[in-house]
Amino acid sequence: MRKKIAAGNWKMNTTLQDGVQLVTDIKKKSPALHAHQEVLFFPPSTHLGVVALECNQKNFFAGAQNCSQFDKGAYTGEISTDMIKAIKGSHVIIGHSERRSIFGENFSTLKEKSTKVIEAGLTLVFCCGETLTERESNNHYNVVKEQLELSLFHLSKEQMKMVVIAYEPVWAIGTGKTASPAEAQDMHAFIRALLKEKYDETIATQTSILYGGSVNAANAKELFGQPDIDGGLVGGASLKVDEFTSIIQALP
Ligand code: PGA
Repeated sequence: MRKKIAAGNWKMNTTLQDGVQLVTDIKKKSPALHAHQEVLFFPPSTHLGVVALECNQKNFFAGAQNCSQFDKGAYTGEISTDMIKAIKGSHVIIGHSERRSIFGENFSTLKEKSTKVIEAGLTLVFCCGETLTERESNNHYNVVKEQLELSLFHLSKEQMKMVVIAYEPVWAIGTGKTASPAEAQDMHAFIRALLKEKYDETIATQTSILYGGSVNAANAKELFGQPDIDGGLVGGASLKVDEFTSIIQALP
């Protein structure tokens, strides 16, 4: 059975103290997790190390929201995969729409970053998703396909075993406007079909594909109940103990 995952992307929120409190409370209130269920926390990098120490690396993991495509050196403001590993970060998000639109990360930068994460032995959480204009012009399949082809599908079959894909329609992020379970399922099935075409049946069946975009306690169960949705990448609701705990509970 492929992994079912509740991932909290905290973005630029929480201080070290808030973050530790949040993780402690969520762990306390979480149900007992099965072997196929995982909870991932993505705090700001200033407290990733401390949050990672609170995680058992069995069902609870911590990761970085971004990393550099370079190994080390004169890159002011950046953090490397080695630095993330050294503080027990196990996952890295690459290609979040905010990195693409606000920080101008393009296909080739994201490709380099994906490679770096995998070569470091970390799990890559690769984000894709279309804007509202792209959906309204019925271009959403092409956009997602291009994002995957240009920045992820250069990885080998073996490397793809360390990849989780997150489908996050940009128009649903932080807007309170969720894709309907049917719309999300439809894109997830499309992505899984691409995995089969590019790799094989095994990769297609085993890769977890998360939905992101205004996931909350009220809509998680129905979204996660779709055959090709394996959990969620959650922003706003991951900062609230009760909301996020309910989302964890909604994992199949
Ligand atoms: P949201 O963010 O849940 O606040 O919409 C999701 C994300 O950006 O990963």
